[in-house]
Amino acid sequence: MPYAKDKVKIVVVKLQSHVPNLRARLLDWYDQQGRILPWRIRPEDRARGMSADPYAIWLSEIMLQQTTVSHATPYWKKFLARWPSVIDLANANRDQVLTEWAGLGYYARARNLHKCAEVVRDRFGGQFPETERQLLDLPGIGPYTAATMAAICFGEPTNIVDGNVERVISRLYGEAAPLPKSKLLLRKLAAPLADPDRPGDYGQALMDLGATICTPRAPQCSACPWNLACRALRDGEPEKYPQKIRKVKPVKFGAVFALIYDDHILLRQRPDKGLLGGMLELPTTTWNEAMTDRPFEYAPTDKNWEKCSGQIKHIFTHFELRLDVYRAASKAQTLDGIWAKTKNLSNYPIPTLTKKAIKLALDEVNRRET
Ligand code: ADE
Repeated sequence: MPYAKDKVKIVVVKLQSHVPNLRARLLDWYDQQGRILPWRIRPEDRARGMSADPYAIWLSEIMLQQTTVSHATPYWKKFLARWPSVIDLANANRDQVLTEWAGLGYYARARNLHKCAEVVRDRFGGQFPETERQLLDLPGIGPYTAATMAAICFGEPTNIVDGNVERVISRLYGEAAPLPKSKLLLRKLAAPLADPDRPGDYGQALMDLGATICTPRAPQCSACPWNLACRALRDGEPEKYPQKIRKVKPVKFGAVFALIYDDHILLRQRPDKGLLGGMLELPTTTWNEAMTDRPFEYAPTDKNWEKCSGQIKHIFTHFELRLDVYRAASKAQTLDGIWAKTKNLSNYPIPTLTKKAIKLALDEVNRRET
């Protein structure tokens, strides 16, 4: 039984004597090589009296879930410029928040972001609560974000574990049990390592280590502050960790309908809950394991729909979607929905998937007209 409590105890006891050394090495590395990120208060900034802004940290942590630093950074800057405080964000119209979020994906995060800002405004007078326990009660704040905010902003010695940390810890301990089953075990292995004196720096150091040195492929073990203790390195194949049980993503098929009137296109708002909730989309068929035989039953109007060449592919967390795109010209804006100006699509909450489909339809129009 690889998950037995005894095993965790034995492994932890074996490495326990190294813990002070591991912490010191990691923090030394972070002090020299940690990333400079716009929301981050580095040790030298703190020495100059600066402290982390919980609002800025919260925004960054929510955006960074499932998103790289380079992709998230321009969004973080945009949000902070437009809504400098959590109260400003709470007072914003939710559609504006969804519009600014468009392109970051996982739109439930944006809906919860706005809800959370409202709760912080209404229940906490615009100040984030300061403990991991209280943070966990806020909309959209899960164990990872609560632990990270509590450590970075309020100095609470929490156990910060994200995907990068899971990889580092599985390699450090040579833990062969596969993800996602091993999540709890990896959390337990990570817990005793956290530094009680510099919990925020320690957590950020560990995440930086995973993002820059202990990478999924071609880790730079020679530059790693933990290389002497790393079991996966000692055994010769660090890239093998963490093992993963991979699920094949099902593929779903559908069709969308681009109805164009002059320089406007017909969009509809998705229901508030669920996938892409509250975002705009082209009228669509349902999405199923096989393409429906009668896509036009879902079209917004009877037309001579022309099929655009090519197909849209989009990867969601639980499935891959392939969409055919049909286009037709309309003589009026009579149908219900939102007639978005095609030159101003960035003013609407339109997800990347829909932008790709609109582009395919409009490119086809332009090709025909030139
Ligand atoms: N990834 C997500 N949040 C992070 C942080 N605070 N530091 C480093 N990497 C991160």
